[in-house]
Amino acid sequence: MYKIAVIAGDGTGPEVINEAVKVLKAVESDAISFELTDLNYNGTRYLETGVTLTDEELENLKTYDAILLGAIGHVDVTPGILERDILLKTRFGLDQYINLRPVKLYPNVYTPIKNKTDQDIDYVVVRENTGGLYTGHGKFEDHGTENEVAVQEMIYTRKQVERCVKYAFQTVVNRHQEVPWKGLSESETQNGKIGKLTLCGKTNVLTYVFDLWQRVVNEMAKDFPSVVLDYVHVDAACIYMVESPERFDVIVTNNMFGDIITDLAAVTQGGMGVAAGGNINPEGVSMFEPIGGTAPSFTGLNQINPMAAIGAVHMMLDHLGHSDVATKIEVAKKAVIQKMNSMQAAQMGYSTTELGDMVVEELNTV
Ligand code: IPM
Ligand code: MN
Repeated sequence: MYKIAVIAGDGTGPEVINEAVKVLKAVESDAISFELTDLNYNGTRYLETGVTLTDEELENLKTYDAILLGAIGHVDVTPGILERDILLKTRFGLDQYINLRPVKLYPNVYTPIKNKTDQDIDYVVVRENTGGLYTGHGKFEDHGTENEVAVQEMIYTRKQVERCVKYAFQTVVNRHQEVPWKGLSESETQNGKIGKLTLCGKTNVLTYVFDLWQRVVNEMAKDFPSVVLDYVHVDAACIYMVESPERFDVIVTNNMFGDIITDLAAVTQGGMGVAAGGNINPEGVSMFEPIGGTAPSFTGLNQINPMAAIGAVHMMLDHLGHSDVATKIEVAKKAVIQKMNSMQAAQMGYSTTELGDMVVEELNTV
């Protein structure tokens, strides 16, 4: 019995989580079951009580096996408060040091990239999730004056970089346990390589932080002889993600760049309706979420795409060690996606609840 904390959140969060939970319940069996606890850590509660997420509540989250998150953000709350005090507080407090974002274009899903298909867009971004610019270190000098200086520091410890890079190397190895990555050259395959790790940085400008990242990657490479090393500057990465996404297998990057490039990546895989992510602490409690946000204009209309939230469930099960069940969900999700007109809210050809039901129906037939 897995204890799952469900933070449905704000806006369309509860609607997509509703469908995700349907799917979760549909895969219950003698071997696997879930005890779900709804937690109202969201903007509505904050407006009513002034409470975001208390330290006790954060502590309590550590007692679950995993967390399923809808979306947090409220039109009546100043941007930044809920993000910092609920989402980032959880990521930091539970030391979810990896933000894992698979980028996969499914057949029949529209991509704005001309001439690219599901054969070309299939990679993973490993975003560092607890350091860098997100640590909130900085200062104002002469605040409000014409000589004002604002500082925001990109801080990385070697330990933070090492654990992230190690996870990324392992992701390459796990991804290609059975079949080597198809982007390898013949000679690479002959030399025993099975996949590629791309460090996405900015060594030409961020000469301290990415010097450290590059050194860590180079040093760790000897423990992963089957992985081909690659480096791209983040600006060039944006070009390649559009022009030649097939050149990527696993990308590892810092928190800020990871945030930005995964939105670009998401749009190439069909947009926010389908992109899911995991905030992972390999030794602790991880949290899975659709990465699309609260979509206030669609709230309550039964028109939002639940596929990203269902994707979050798929990732969660994979993480909990049930890759067989996770694969079943992915197959079912893929089959339903074939029938949809679009991944865009209100243009899907089906309602949110219909799509959840359809995935459940598929699950019952596979
Ligand atoms: C994300 C989001 C968050 C981030 C925001 C909401 C703080 O954009 O999960 O990518 O910047 O990490
Ligand atoms: Mn983001």
